[in-house]
Amino acid sequence: MRVLSGTKPTGDSLHLGNYFGALRQFVSLQDKYDESLYFIADYHSMTTVRDAALRRRYTTNVALDYLAAGLDPERAILFRQSDIPEVCELTWLLTSVTPMGMLERAHAYKAAMDKGENVDHGLFTYPVLMAADILLYHADLVPVGQDQKQHIEMTRDMAQRFNHAYDCEALVIPEPYIMKDAAVVPGTDGQKMSKSYGNTIAMFASEKQIKKAVMGVVTDSKGVDEPKDPSAPIFDLWNLFADAKEREEMAQRAQAGGLGYGDIKKDLLARVLDHFASMRERRAHFEARPDDVEAILRAGAEKARAMAAPVLEGCRLAAGLGVNGLA
Ligand code: TYM
Repeated sequence: MRVLSGTKPTGDSLHLGNYFGALRQFVSLQDKYDESLYFIADYHSMTTVRDAALRRRYTTNVALDYLAAGLDPERAILFRQSDIPEVCELTWLLTSVTPMGMLERAHAYKAAMDKGENVDHGLFTYPVLMAADILLYHADLVPVGQDQKQHIEMTRDMAQRFNHAYDCEALVIPEPYIMKDAAVVPGTDGQKMSKSYGNTIAMFASEKQIKKAVMGVVTDSKGVDEPKDPSAPIFDLWNLFADAKEREEMAQRAQAGGLGYGDIKKDLLARVLDHFASMRERRAHFEARPDDVEAILRAGAEKARAMAAPVLEGCRLAAGLGVNGLA
């Protein structure tokens, strides 16, 4: 089984949504399956980040977050998407089997259109590049949060259409892997936690910033004694850091009343800081060794490229491209 996933470099630290929705699974899956590939989707970040220095910084930060969270270059191939330019060629091969209607139904594109944003072709084609990311390495399993499910379905569709169009099995049909209990992590305003909504709690921001974010989680105006709704965002966030028994007790206490939102927030803050404390130390270790981090990404790119080459060649052959395969 080959497991693959990616993360867009769009900030200085990944957030709780990235961690519980995806990264935590990356770390546990690297022990479960023999081949894992995790990359930094810097090509994808081009739809929003328009500054070279920032992109480099954010890319390094995702690499640090990966390593801090426990991805191990001995067990997982860690690389930068743009170190494998073959992915752009496969994107092109896939575009011609991708109906416009499929891309027009993509959530991110529709949301941008609804907001009246100036949509560029990069955003429209985003799902095709993402499909190429997955298909280029013959990935079987793709761990992601719920928001990426549609992209995986489109990937499956594109792979089937390519194989069908050229009567071949050049591409493997991947499966999504979505953890139910953290499929959608809410942000501080109760919507999905997302960088673009400005409602994130970062894994590795300063204690002061994390405190500000946690204390700002929306709640209703119920007083300490009043019963509270255990499905409110503040409880969903707290539950991420609790085991099943603690969750149940918390739900009972919430419904009984006598528990103030301020106290839950204080406890959540302590849990967030504690949960990421040892990862923070590991992050600092790698942050002080930028050459080592760069060497890890380059070694990963070499391995990933060796996996990508035969897959792309198989697609080129099937489609009658290039000189290879001629008698
Ligand atoms: P990105 O960078 O937005 O997010 C990285 C991962 O974090 C998950 N995630 C969440 N999960 C639960 N709750 C949330 N609030 C939340 N916010 C983010 C995402 O589902 C994702 O798994 N297009 C992808 C990057 C990508 C990719 C790929 C992923 C590019 N190519 C190929 C898998 C395979 C993205 O923008 O994720």
